[in-house]
Amino acid sequence: MEATDRTSPSSSLQAKATTRPAKPADKAFIVALSNKVFSVYGPYRGTVSQWFESGVTLTFISTVGGRPAGFVMIGALPAEHEEQTAAEVLAIAVTPEFQRRGIGRELLLVAQKGAENLGVQRLFLHTARENLAAQKLFLRNGFRPVQSKTRFYPSGQDALLMVKELGKGRDPI
Ligand SMILES: CC(C)(COP(=O)(O)OP(=O)(O)OC[C@H]1O[C@@H](n2cnc3c(N)ncnc32)[C@H](O)[C@@H]1OP(=O)(O)O)[C@@H](O)C(=O)NCCC(=O)NCCS
Repeated sequence: MEATDRTSPSSSLQAKATTRPAKPADKAFIVALSNKVFSVYGPYRGTVSQWFESGVTLTFISTVGGRPAGFVMIGALPAEHEEQTAAEVLAIAVTPEFQRRGIGRELLLVAQKGAENLGVQRLFLHTARENLAAQKLFLRNGFRPVQSKTRFYPSGQDALLMVKELGKGRDPI
């Protein structure tokens, strides 16, 4: 019989996260989470919604116990037969209750795989200079800061441009 731990968090918090490509029905979650975590930087509720529907972005959703817990969106994808080497991580977010469980890291890896499968050789992203948690996540996953951008965001915050070369550090076949 399974032991019962009355002091442990709910079973949904203990369940393992899985990641899948986003579906149109995920839009409400993506928009709500963007509104929650990105509004401080500008009108990203609408911006992320437009990106999601633009047809040139790739979005993945992490779920825990069937519930959406986070997403990552990459953009500027190469069209078929088009030579393009770089793509941008436009947005990545995990709902506060599911943060610090490795979901952000997993989403980044899935985005990277998705980009590599499309022939992308370099991922870049912008993150707020003040967002030290995000910078730590990106630094620990192979992104390096290359440029500071003053008042990059609509609300005036400065940004850091970070880059990761793909296809490096993989196990030799
Ligand atoms: C940034 C964000 C996506 C990280 O998601 P997450 O699922 O909590 O990240 P992970 O659990 O995979 O963390 C991986 C590593 O990143 C770093 N990190 C993540 N959150 C951190 C925090 N709040 N403080 C310090 N370091 C943090 C740590 O090094 C962590 O490893 P550790 O837990 O072993 O110390 C999440 O905090 C978030 O959604 N924030 C709001 C939206 C946002 O700022 N997005 C980035 C915009 S560019």
